[in-house]
Amino acid sequence: MILVTGGCGFIGSAFVLGWLQDRDEPVLNLDLLTYAGHPGNLQAVSGDPRYLFVRGDIGDQQLVERLLAEHRPRAIVNFAAESHVDRSISGPLAFAQTNVVGTLKLLEAVNAYWRALPAPAQADFRFLHVSTDEVFGSLAADAPAFSESHRYEPNSPYSASKAASDHFVRAWHHTFGLPTLTTNCSNNYGPRQFPEKLIPLIIHNALRGKPLPVYGDGRQVRDWLHVDDHCLALRAVLATGRPGESYNIGGRSERANLDVVHAICGALDRLRPRPGGAPHAELVTHVKDRPGHDRRYAIDDGKIAGELGWQPRVGFEEGIRGTVQWYLDNQAWVESVTSGSYRDWVSQQYTGLATAA
Ligand code: NAD
Ligand code: DAU
Repeated sequence: MILVTGGCGFIGSAFVLGWLQDRDEPVLNLDLLTYAGHPGNLQAVSGDPRYLFVRGDIGDQQLVERLLAEHRPRAIVNFAAESHVDRSISGPLAFAQTNVVGTLKLLEAVNAYWRALPAPAQADFRFLHVSTDEVFGSLAADAPAFSESHRYEPNSPYSASKAASDHFVRAWHHTFGLPTLTTNCSNNYGPRQFPEKLIPLIIHNALRGKPLPVYGDGRQVRDWLHVDDHCLALRAVLATGRPGESYNIGGRSERANLDVVHAICGALDRLRPRPGGAPHAELVTHVKDRPGHDRRYAIDDGKIAGELGWQPRVGFEEGIRGTVQWYLDNQAWVESVTSGSYRDWVSQQYTGLATAA
């Protein structure tokens, strides 16, 4: 079996659902169920004998040691993290706790387990650490895309914590020989993304006729990848990636934030017109910029494409249409995750942001 951490979140749940759809190998999911983790994301497999869920912290070394001894996984896929940049600005300590200390404790437990495995199982074992392109910092408009050898220059508390975790993973390979793999992926979108992130937040607000907050001038560029493509890339890396290596993953879809917001508005105008027919784009509101806001991310995916034959399948326009449709069809999911704590976050984050630009 494989052990997945953070499997109740956005990408982890897509990974578990895709895995169990295609393969017989069981999955053990260790998730703390923070505000971002929803067991309902995995309702489709909750009765499946190949799926096992344990609520717990990757930083609880004793628990992880016990789970490893009991279930003897052949691989770990580490999704568990605090993942939202804005939250890392207002409360960075949780990011250090889970992303840095948690990953370190997980590595300690996994390394002890791995060292005690018989030689063939040791050789086959993999620890896949799911990281982000944000560790590389910000690119100028005309700069070449991030390759795996780009210097680490994290700018936010979130990216600093992910960079630290990447360095620990690297060190556990270099020092102890643990067969690690690291992936650095660009912005994901798709079903079940928590509506604190740009795309689901814009859909959520637009459907309620609320302002669509665009930070600063909205010309910041991200490279968007459908979550299902990311999960296929992770499976390719797990299957045939070289231990000790890192792989960049991207969507070949660089877009300015304003263009993303307008694409969502256009899809909604067609799928769910506003009463009276006014365009959703009328709701766009420029607000104060994110402190230290990275201007541009872009991925050079030559290594994963060349070595592992992976490339994105879902085009951005098709992916956005499908994502908007998913949120329209799953408003009950949205209602269930946007509880009191979600409303507290929105009011803390957006109330009083002066209109800019
Ligand atoms: P998410 O916030 O939706 O989910 C995180 C999950 O981890 C939640 O289920 C949460 O309950 C769980 N978790 C948090 N702390 C934990 C702990 N201490 N122990 C166990 N579980 C814990 O995040 P996501 O967007 O699905 O991202 C998953 C991973 O992918 C993260 O490591 C993130 O850095 C990375 N990543 C995300 C993106 C993106 O665009 N979302 C892009 C590249 C990389
Ligand atoms: O690049 C990969 C990263 O992508 C992941 O590692 C992170 O976990 C994930 O959250 C994401 O980080 P971003 O900060 O790029 O994503 P977010 O959806 O928060 O913001 C996308 C862009 O939209 C960014 O430039 C900020 C902007 N934005 C965001 C929000 C929430 C707005 O303009 N308004 C908003 O209300």
